[in-house]
Amino acid sequence: MNSQNILLGVSGGIAAYKAPELVRRLTERGATVQVVATQSALEFVTATTLQAVSGRPVRSSLWDPAAEAAMGHIELARWADQVLIAPATAEFMSRLAAGGAADLLSTLCLASEAPLTIAPAMNRVMWAHPAVQANREILERRGVRIVGPDAGDQACGEQGLGRMSEPDAIAALMFAGEALPGRQGPVRPAAISKSRPLAGKTVLITAGPTHEAIDPVRYITNRSSGKMGYALAEAALLAGARVILVSGPVNLATPAGAERVDVESAEDLYKATHAHIKGTDIFIAAAAVADYQLQQVAKHKIKKSQVEISLELTRAPDTLASVAKLSPGPFTVGFAAETTRLRDYARGKLQNKNLDMIVANQVGPDEGFDKDDNAVEVFWPTGEKSFPKALKTELARDLIALIAERYQERLNASTQPDLPALSSRP
Ligand code: PMT
Repeated sequence: MNSQNILLGVSGGIAAYKAPELVRRLTERGATVQVVATQSALEFVTATTLQAVSGRPVRSSLWDPAAEAAMGHIELARWADQVLIAPATAEFMSRLAAGGAADLLSTLCLASEAPLTIAPAMNRVMWAHPAVQANREILERRGVRIVGPDAGDQACGEQGLGRMSEPDAIAALMFAGEALPGRQGPVRPAAISKSRPLAGKTVLITAGPTHEAIDPVRYITNRSSGKMGYALAEAALLAGARVILVSGPVNLATPAGAERVDVESAEDLYKATHAHIKGTDIFIAAAAVADYQLQQVAKHKIKKSQVEISLELTRAPDTLASVAKLSPGPFTVGFAAETTRLRDYARGKLQNKNLDMIVANQVGPDEGFDKDDNAVEVFWPTGEKSFPKALKTELARDLIALIAERYQERLNASTQPDLPALSSRP
């Protein structure tokens, strides 16, 4: 059990109804939780409920003489080992980005040196708004960890990215094993449990497309938004892993806590992967990597003087196949994107590339790529499992659980039990 002091800030959005559940998930893991609610949060959830689940009076005003006498706001800021704002509304994110201190919660965020995590929640159009995204970028650059938001049904009746991440997932991340920046030093990892099967492990994930330059302004690419790979990175972090995310050009926020390495081409992806593969326990190749690259990239923009032109292509390096050849190598998981004969081609790749597992998805204009959901079939040398269509965020959690299970099995099979010699037994 972990005895962290967590200052939970609740700002005023409909997702505040999840705050009592979040307090319970945090206290179950051994944390002492002090809730600080904004005035508008208390329009959605009562102080009585939050006090009942946290066992401590809720703080909400800078001007409460009794509360300030018991523990002043600067003292409270120092008390926290971690600060978590869930939900973080668009308004609260803008207050944080601007460094406002007009209320107790934003003052505490300025006054605390503890690591800060926020779980945004808002309507999908608000989340996509350039002003909100600019604030997100400012906060990320300052080292604020951002969890979610998730995609799915929203309280306003719309569907999309903006739901607050589930309390269980947020709580798990607060106890993830990585060292967080802050005056308290590393957060002690919770015991390895079923919910954190990858604690202490390093997972390297490739995600997104690659761009193969034709000339300085044009390139060839594969279809991929990066959503599947990024969801896997988030799920691996929740499972307690250190995550290195080798990412092609995508328009997605880095999952909080992931170490992102940006690449452009198949050649870059190969080099970045091999620069980080040493010490990696699990490798997951979710990127849609180009199979061919230009033999010669034109130095200057090719002019439209000819009616037809030909491009000479050569094979690009196959990162997945090269990692699978390493000995000793990580537990290696490939993806197969197929338009026909999904099972046959996927099984073929599993065998030919000597993989530990392959995740096969049917792709086309309306499935696999870009979408928030996907359906996959997973194959490994001794078994298979189907996962029906689900949000990529949910699918990723199931895939990571299966990968952790198969990885552990491979590990057990390769470790001889260390039995004492018969003669030395009493
Ligand atoms: O990004 P999204 O929009 O969410 O879409 C997700 C996805 C459909 C891209 C993803 O789920 C997926 O299937 N990724 C792999 C796509 C692909 O390139 O498949 P492939 O069958 O061509 O390649 C097989 C495997 O070899 C893949 O693991 C690929 O990462 C790897 N590979 C391929 C070529 C290459 N030069 N190097 C590689 O490492």
